Amino acid sequence: MDKTKGFRIGNLEINLPIVQGGMGVGISLSGLAASVADAGGLGVISSVGLGMLDKYGGKGGSIANIEGLRAEIRKARELTSGVLGVNIMTALNDFGAMLKTAIQEQIDIVFIGAGLITKLPEGVDLNMLTTTKTKFAPIVSSPRAADLIFRYWDKHYHHIPDAIVIEGPLAGGHLGFKRDTLDEPVNTLEEILKGVKSVLSFFEEKYKQIIPVIAGGGVFDGMDIASLLHKGADAVQMGTRFVATEECDASDEFKQSYISSKKEDIVIINSPVGLPGRAVNCQYLEEVRNGERKPINCLWKCLKTCDFHQAPYCIARALTNAQQGNLKEGFAFCGANAYKIDGIVKVKELIESLKQELNTAWEKLQK
Ligand SMILES: Cc1cc2nc3c(=O)[nH]c(=O)nc-3n(C[C@H](O)[C@H](O)[C@H](O)COP(=O)(O)O)c2cc1C
Repeated sequence: MDKTKGFRIGNLEINLPIVQGGMGVGISLSGLAASVADAGGLGVISSVGLGMLDKYGGKGGSIANIEGLRAEIRKARELTSGVLGVNIMTALNDFGAMLKTAIQEQIDIVFIGAGLITKLPEGVDLNMLTTTKTKFAPIVSSPRAADLIFRYWDKHYHHIPDAIVIEGPLAGGHLGFKRDTLDEPVNTLEEILKGVKSVLSFFEEKYKQIIPVIAGGGVFDGMDIASLLHKGADAVQMGTRFVATEECDASDEFKQSYISSKKEDIVIINSPVGLPGRAVNCQYLEEVRNGERKPINCLWKCLKTCDFHQAPYCIARALTNAQQGNLKEGFAFCGANAYKIDGIVKVKELIESLKQELNTAWEKLQK
C-alpha cells in the first residue's frame, strides 16, 4: 500500500496518514474531531475535564465528565462517518469511567496517555477489552515504555494493543520525559521510532498482527510527514497545526496566542500532573513561577497525584480558562513549532495543503 494514501488499524481504514492528537481541556471536542475525520484523517476527542466546561456544568466531577464525553461522541458521530477516537489520560481519577464510557459508546479507538496502561482500571475487565470493537492505542515516549506495556498485556491478557502512538520531545501539552532529558540524542522522535519498531517486531511475530506506529511531536508540514513515513512510521499525530483551524473547539484568544507567539515565547513548564509541559509563555505562567498562583480550593480531585495544598496552581482551572478565552487566568499548551503558525484556516484547507506537500516530498524521497 502507498503509505501516503492512508493506513489501517486492524479493520479500521483511515484514508490519510494523519491522526489529530487529542487535546484537553476542551481543545479537541466533536467540532475539530469530526472535521478531521470528515477530511479523511483520524479525529480525536479529548475526554479530559469536560465537566469543567460551562456547557457541561462548569464544576467538574466524574458524572459531568461522563455525560460530556457521551454527548461529544454522539455529536461527532452525527457530523461524520469518518474514523473517530477518544484521548484518555491515565493520570486522572476518572480514567476508568472515561474508558468505560468510550467503549460503551463504541468509539472506533481510544488513545491512552499521561501514564502507562498496564493494569486495567476499575470498571473495565478483560472480557470488555477483548470483545469490544473499540481499538486501543497507548501513547509512549520511549521504547522501554512500549516494551513494558506490550509485555504486561501479553502476559496478563494474552492480547496486545492495536496500535501505538509515540510522542517525541517537541510535542505540545504534557511530555513523557524528565525535563532535563528533553534534548538528549536518544530522545529524538526518530530514535524513539527506531527503538519502538524493534520492540514491536517480537509481538507482531508472536500475534501475527501488524501494529501501526503513529509518530508525533513537532510535525508541521508535509515534508515532516513524508520523512517520518519514510523512516518507518505508518502515520503521524499532529496537534498544534489543528489548533489554528476554524473548527478547533478552543476560543479565538487561545488560537491567537499561537499566531502572536515568537520562538522564545514557547517554554517548558512544570505541571501538577508530575510531568513537564510545553506552553506559550504568558503573565499567568510568570505568576506561577513567582509562586503567586496557589489554588484556593479544589472543585473535585481530578488528578490522582495532585494535592491542592501543595500544587503551585490548579491546572484544570487554568486550562479551562484558556480554552474559554480567559488567558489572564490560564495558559495555552502548544507544540514546539507553534510560533510558525501565521493564520487560522479551515481543516479541509490545512489537510489539502498537507496532502500536496506530502505527495511532493514523498516523490522526492522515492528517487
Ligand atoms: C493544546 C494542547 C493540548 C494537548 N492535550 C493533550 C491531552 O489532553 N492528552 C494527550 O495525550 N495529548 C495532549 N496533547 C498532545 C497532542 O495530542 C499531540 O500529540 C502533540 O501536540 C503533537 O505535537 P504537535 O503539537 O507538535 O503536533 C496536547 C497538545 C496541545 C497542543
